[in-house]
Amino acid sequence: MKRKILVTSALPYANGSIHLGHLVEYIQTDIWVRFQKMQGNECHYVCADDTHGTPIMLRAEKEGITPEQLIARVAEEHKADFAAFHVEFDHYGSTNSGETRELSEQIYLRLRDNARLIEKRSIEQYYDPVKQMFLPDRFIKGECPKCGAKDQYGDNCESCGAAYAPTELINPYSAVSGAKPELRDSDHYFFKLSDPRCQKFLREWTRGGALQPEAANKMQEWLGTEGENKLSDWDISRDAPYFGFEIPGAPGKYFYVWLDAPVGYMGSFKQFCKLPSPNGGGAGGGGAPLNFDDFWKQGSDTELYHFIGKDILYFHALFWPAMLEHSGFRTPTKLFAHGFLTVNGEKMSKSRGTFITARSYLDHVKNTEYLRYYYAAKLNGTMEDIDLNLDDFVAKVNSDLIGKYINIASRCAGFIAKKFDGKLLGRNPKFSSNGEEWLGKFLSIHGDDSYIGHDYISEGYERRDFAKATREIMLATDIANKYIDEQKPWELAKQSGAENQLHEVCSIALNMFRMLTAYLKPILPQLASNVEAFLNIDELKWSDISGPPYTDKLLPHGHKINNYSHLTTRLDPKLIEAMVAANQESLKPMTEPHSEQRHAAHQQHTANTEAAEANKSFEPFISIDDFMKVDLRVAKIVNAEHVEGAEKLLKLTLDIGEEKPRTVFAGIKSAYDPEKLKGRMTVMVANLAPRKMKFGLSEGMVLAASGQAPGLFILSPDEGAQPGMRIK
Ligand code: 2FM
Ligand code: ZN
Repeated sequence: MKRKILVTSALPYANGSIHLGHLVEYIQTDIWVRFQKMQGNECHYVCADDTHGTPIMLRAEKEGITPEQLIARVAEEHKADFAAFHVEFDHYGSTNSGETRELSEQIYLRLRDNARLIEKRSIEQYYDPVKQMFLPDRFIKGECPKCGAKDQYGDNCESCGAAYAPTELINPYSAVSGAKPELRDSDHYFFKLSDPRCQKFLREWTRGGALQPEAANKMQEWLGTEGENKLSDWDISRDAPYFGFEIPGAPGKYFYVWLDAPVGYMGSFKQFCKLPSPNGGGAGGGGAPLNFDDFWKQGSDTELYHFIGKDILYFHALFWPAMLEHSGFRTPTKLFAHGFLTVNGEKMSKSRGTFITARSYLDHVKNTEYLRYYYAAKLNGTMEDIDLNLDDFVAKVNSDLIGKYINIASRCAGFIAKKFDGKLLGRNPKFSSNGEEWLGKFLSIHGDDSYIGHDYISEGYERRDFAKATREIMLATDIANKYIDEQKPWELAKQSGAENQLHEVCSIALNMFRMLTAYLKPILPQLASNVEAFLNIDELKWSDISGPPYTDKLLPHGHKINNYSHLTTRLDPKLIEAMVAANQESLKPMTEPHSEQRHAAHQQHTANTEAAEANKSFEPFISIDDFMKVDLRVAKIVNAEHVEGAEKLLKLTLDIGEEKPRTVFAGIKSAYDPEKLKGRMTVMVANLAPRKMKFGLSEGMVLAASGQAPGLFILSPDEGAQPGMRIK
């Protein structure tokens, strides 16, 4: 029976680059999907960029472009990266689409009007009076209420690990403008997860087999026992300004990004259904148009799987199924959560050069199937973290792929071309007893007659235990190599009267190579397609090589193969060294805050903390005379105004005790409201040569501090300082 399956990977945020941590998930999903397709199942793989929320809005603003421009640019980058790693989506969309908007609204309205699970409540929240916006927790910083560490985020402390509410921070400040945030009231919309119907449903659903055992246990912890009522309502609205979808019937309120992100799975699939065949309607192979409802209506008998990182289980195992259930849609069949990626046993790190983007891998290593193979060999379908050990990576790729697998073809193909006009010997009705015996060993792998090894391979793929599948494939590869080692075709070629045997050995070995290629094809799609061309065969399907009697699944007598040309090369460790070195180097000129990574799903904090540390390198020493050349003065901002047409500048009028005040254009618009600057004291460089700018002459410079985190902070002298005082 042909299964009907819809598969998703988590939607990457549209403001950050794809890195090797993300790729664990996309490669894992892609391998599984390719396996299902090779099995002849109808399997659709959709994904999209996750485009909404404050970080994306602020990032676009910082770059001086619209959020739409930013997400369009990033979508192209993401698609190119995925294609290079052979991650083949059937459709890649965006959450900023009509389809996702409609579905989000539909779900919300059904939750509100049918299920009565939406409630409006006023909450108190930090507001940035300069930037004039409510601040998400991650954009509020201050001292940790537990350990006192400075510059900690509003939700948890990176120094002591404590979790808290932003209102508990000591001396809080806005990471956007630096201003002291004020508590203000605002109406928010909540999804009533605490409702007994939700709790009851989730208690059943999380125990119903949709979750891996470790995940199910975690959920029981979060849900508590019957009657405990541990779930709180979920705040699904955000106030303007916000880049997202406005909530129907609630002007100025927007869906929180995590509300419409998973709806993006549906939206992307809906877009796919609308596409003309063969990309859309006919993708299942049958030519019948794909029907959205077949996959999403309540009670659908199709299968729905979400591949996700363990860090976003909460959203997918609680909020998402509850939203779907109570708005009349089907719930996921299963969630497949995976662990994080470590590199050389540690979290990915910018200072160690192991925070590796997809681009950087492509620039240096190029062959992306090496990484696919290594990840496959490590992934076992559990939530354990996986480690990319760079030495082991080189060793494994070279020993398994080159030393074992490719070696079979490279040792046998030449003789077929040279001595037998490129034609293979067929099994008609049998090979020699030695040949039959080796074929039997290869097909059974474990030495019994049940072909159990081959079942293990499919089983490994199906259960996402790719480590097991690759282990079995390598065992079969070892058998093929032992056969060649024993028969020594290079010697047979020199003996007179051994032509038949040579022909048989090389033909059997190449048949083994063909089967191994089919087994490896979900992992190595490009290489497999090159092998198909070399062997002159159609696209390999699972049924070509699987299911007893296996000995019937060989190439026919006289099948002509093409000349062997190099299929792949060894992985040179120097390429890895160069990649790591380049990533370390790329830290030096880094001055841009990389705040988006903080909000990416994987390994974000470490990367940023490390980047910040590495950025603390200081300028070389100078003499006091050098310093005295800089004439720093206390300045009073007598006027501050916007400059028409300038994205970043404010025009400041500064009194430094001279007859005529100075005009300075300062790039601080993103952080300061001009009205609030008027009358403030600050510090300026008074002897910087005047500079002609597009908007006028700038007669100096005001000083401001900035770091890795967002935010820009102008300096203020202590009380009592007068305009024009020298600072030294
Ligand atoms: O954590 C993340 O990277 C999110 N952008 C994942 C969203 S998955 C889904 F819900 F859309
Ligand atoms: Zn702390």
